Amino acid sequence: MLEKLLSLKNQVVNDLKKANTINEVNETKAAYLGKKSPLQELMSKMRDLSVEERKELGKAANEFRAFVEKELSKRITEINEEAINKRLESETIDVTLPGRKFRTGTIHPLRKITREIEDFFLGMGYKIEEGPEIELDQYNFEMLNLPKGHPAREMQDSFYIDENTLLRTHTSPVQVRTLLKAKGEPVKIICPGKVYRRDNDDATHSHQFMQIEGLVVDKDITLADLKGTLTMLCKKMFGENLEIRFRPSFFPFTEPSVEVDVTCFKCNGAGCSLCKSSGWIEVLGAGMVHPNVLRMAGYDPKVYQGFAFGLGIERFSMLMNSIDDIRHFYTNDPRFLRQF
Ligand code: DAH
Repeated sequence: MLEKLLSLKNQVVNDLKKANTINEVNETKAAYLGKKSPLQELMSKMRDLSVEERKELGKAANEFRAFVEKELSKRITEINEEAINKRLESETIDVTLPGRKFRTGTIHPLRKITREIEDFFLGMGYKIEEGPEIELDQYNFEMLNLPKGHPAREMQDSFYIDENTLLRTHTSPVQVRTLLKAKGEPVKIICPGKVYRRDNDDATHSHQFMQIEGLVVDKDITLADLKGTLTMLCKKMFGENLEIRFRPSFFPFTEPSVEVDVTCFKCNGAGCSLCKSSGWIEVLGAGMVHPNVLRMAGYDPKVYQGFAFGLGIERFSMLMNSIDDIRHFYTNDPRFLRQF
């Protein structure tokens, strides 16, 4: 009988190896220690044994029970550990995975350059003015010394709403509005904004584009003030080492009028494809405010003088960033926009 118990020990170990759940472990327990187990069967035969034999068998039975219980709890611990490890494995976070990128937009190139120019002028004490995009003929043309029928109107054909109202063709009407508002006081403003022309769109023309207007009206304002101001602006935008040149031009609202060129910043004036071998690049129009404009706005041109200028924001950006087509600004291709 003792040998039988010994052989049962091996069997218990084998059975427990196959038990993979707590339930299966409990079944094994019942099989070896329960009422119908071989152990109980042995015990029931005790009666037929001698005292000595009983003692010996009793001791062996106790030992067997202790052995089985130890093995059972060992297996239960194992099963629990395995379960925890499995869970840990399935719940781990792979910290080596790259994070998801959150794409932010970028400031539109036109807005960016507008801000730079605004900063420059704010630093010099200018105010920023705004005007409506739907403008009166009176301000867009008439009070800028461009009466009806004036040939210079042809260069700025517009979208008319009615005979007296149109989409402004330039930011210059803000000059008139500002002067009327200032009622004879000195004025020092810039005005950025959208303008419209009846042009067919191509690489260098757009029916809608942006300008920045500048106007200074005060006593003792001269062409030298204009030149100094624009030289500083162009150096800031295009590079410290350039020179600026005034070429005579014509605008009805300025006298004299100038076209402003800067040294070609690509070839440093040597001549290249960008400046068409001239060494100069035209960047904006300017001049001394025409006495008629001052007079119409209620200023005495004998007391007050002024200078004005108007620049194309797209043109500035195209020159500064080597952009070859104005339409890029308005088609909103992220591949273009992301570069700024
Ligand atoms: N308004 C002009 C245009 O759109 C640009 C311009 C030229 C504005 C000379 C000015 C100026 O203020 O003085 O073509």
